[in-house]
Formats: sequence, structure tokens, C-alpha cells
Amino acid sequence: MFSYKDIGLVNTKHLFEMAMKGHYAVPAYNFNNMEQMQAIIQACVETKSPVILQVSKGARAYADKYILRNMARGAVEYAHELGADIPIVLHLDHGPNFEVAKDCIDNGFSSVMIDGSALPYDENVAVTKKVVDYAHQFDVTVEGELGVLAGVEDDVAAAESHYTKPEEVQDFVSKTGVDSLAISIGTSHGRCKFTPEQCTRNADGVLVPPPLAFDVLEGVEKKLPGFPIVLHGSSSVPIEYVRIIEQFGGKIPDSVGIPEEQLRKAAQSAVCKINIDSDGRLAMTAAIRKFFAENPSKFDPREYLGPAREELKKMYMHKNIEVLGSAGHAFDK
Ligand code: G3H
Ligand code: 13P
Ligand code: ZN
Repeated sequence: MFSYKDIGLVNTKHLFEMAMKGHYAVPAYNFNNMEQMQAIIQACVETKSPVILQVSKGARAYADKYILRNMARGAVEYAHELGADIPIVLHLDHGPNFEVAKDCIDNGFSSVMIDGSALPYDENVAVTKKVVDYAHQFDVTVEGELGVLAGVEDDVAAAESHYTKPEEVQDFVSKTGVDSLAISIGTSHGRCKFTPEQCTRNADGVLVPPPLAFDVLEGVEKKLPGFPIVLHGSSSVPIEYVRIIEQFGGKIPDSVGIPEEQLRKAAQSAVCKINIDSDGRLAMTAAIRKFFAENPSKFDPREYLGPAREELKKMYMHKNIEVLGSAGHAFDK
């Protein structure tokens, strides 16, 4: 057993209490490599934001669990070196089963998600409760999910989304004992969150998505007053990055994300954690494609990963300040 407490990480409990009270959301940024981790920490230290470093099953396979754990330890020390001991959570994103969640709890994670959303309700309750019972022995917090998001969740792909049913949430939370609940209100994973048919177009021909189902969110809040809610699939898919990627040879048609003003509104509600992965991928890819197009003779990875890291940092700072509202809240008491 390797406790997260030994490497200076924290669980989500206090962070979500503060986010609920302060009407902001804690950023949950996915990372797979050193440059992403550095950009997240630099941005969160500079904006004085708490942060959830999020690791998917795919990231564990890509980077190795021991390397990731030591990167999280490095993140804590890096934040200290940069001048602010911001609270850092190491969180398993979309835990597929009890075994993977347990392995993370045993190996330094301070928070885990168990994603039983594709299972029948009773099976989702059973596996989520099993993870909670194990995690809480070690003061590790647990996120469950009710409702299905369209798009790819690791290797679980759902063609259609099903909004969370507010009438189920109380029962789910009381039976499982989860610390937070991910819900489905129209967000989805990846860079195409809606089909073009579901959208309208503005005067520039840019896709404008339909609004999120705030009525479902309000219904959940009424059933679970003061309980932390999580939004997955919350990248905004900035049109500037899509344009740079396509200008320099990429092909990513029909890209459309969640508008920032809707995320801002959600962050002011009971939504305490907002998950962002795809925007980081787009920012890095845009910076690297541009660099290669403009510098065809360069081949030192530091020369193209450096600008990618800078672009990521800029984007995360913008999210913390302008969208999630977490900037300045690292040391809320
Ligand atoms: O929810 C999915 C995340 O974006 C993780 O994606 O499984 O490709 O690492 P990944
Ligand atoms: P995006 O694909 O919108 O970035 O969502 C990421 C996510 O929900 C990770 O769990
Ligand atoms: Zn997700």
C-alpha cells in the first residue's frame, strides 16, 4: 500500500466543499506525459488554482502507473519550487472496474472514478459501493456516474447519450456513499460533441451547438442539495485551434464543443469538477503542426514540445480565470 498522503497529494473533499461555497469548479485536466503535467502545474500555480490531475486507463497503459505516480509526486514538488503549494489531486478517470480502482488506490491515487454508467442500474450501484467501501478505508474519495455520455469513454463507446434521471440520484448516492456524481446533461467526449444536424451555423459558418440541459442539472440539485456534481466531456473545442490544425494540414471536420459561457454557468452551480482533455490535445497539436510547417528542418523534440507546452499553459490559465472561476481559490478555507 502506497498512500497518496506520503507524496503530498490531497483528496477532493475539502476542494469540493470550497468550490460549492465559492461557486466555481475545480479543473480536472487529463495528462499522459511530462509536458502536459508541467503546463497544468505552471498554469495552476500562476493562477493560484486547486487542480485535479486526471489519468485515464489509456494514460496508465501509455505512461506506466509507477511513472505516473512519480510524476504526481514530481508535480507536488514542482508546484513548491514554482512558489505555491497548491492542492493537487491524483484522480483515476473512468475507472472501468473494481480491480483498476483498487490498484490506483493502492498506488498513490487520492481519488478514483468508478464508471458503471454503461451497466444496468443495480450493477452500477453494486460496483460503485464496492469501490467506495474500499477507498474510504484509505481516505480516498470516489466519483460515480449516472446517465450516459455519447462518445468514447476510454474503450467504452456509446452512440447515444441518456440524460441522468434526477429521480435516481438520491437513491444512488445513499446506496453507494459516493463523494461526487458525474451526470449527463448533453456534454460528450471528444472533439465532435454534437452532429452538424443538431447544430445551427452562425454568420461565419461556424457550428453553434444546442444548449446543455440545465433543467436536468437543476433537477439533480434539488434532489441532492449541496452535493458535488461533475461534468465530463467539457472541452470547448476552440475554433482557433481547429483552424490552425486545418491550416497546417490536419483534417478535423465537424468539430464542435461546449461554449464557454455554458460552462461558466455550470461552474457557478453545484458542478464542482469540470473535465477537460480534448482541448489540451487540440492546443498541443495546433502548436506542433504550426511549428513543423514553419520550421521544416527542425527535429529536436524540445523545440516543438516547448511551444506546445506554452500553448497548453496559456489555455489552462484562460480556463481557470475565465471559465471555471477556480483562479485565486487554491487556499480557500
Ligand atoms: O474520457 C476520456 C478521456 O478523454 C480519456 O481519453 O482514454 O484516450 O486517454 P483516453
Ligand atoms: P473532453 O473530451 O470534452 O475533453 O472530456 C474529457 C473528459 O471528460 C475526461 O474524463
Ligand atoms: Zn470523461
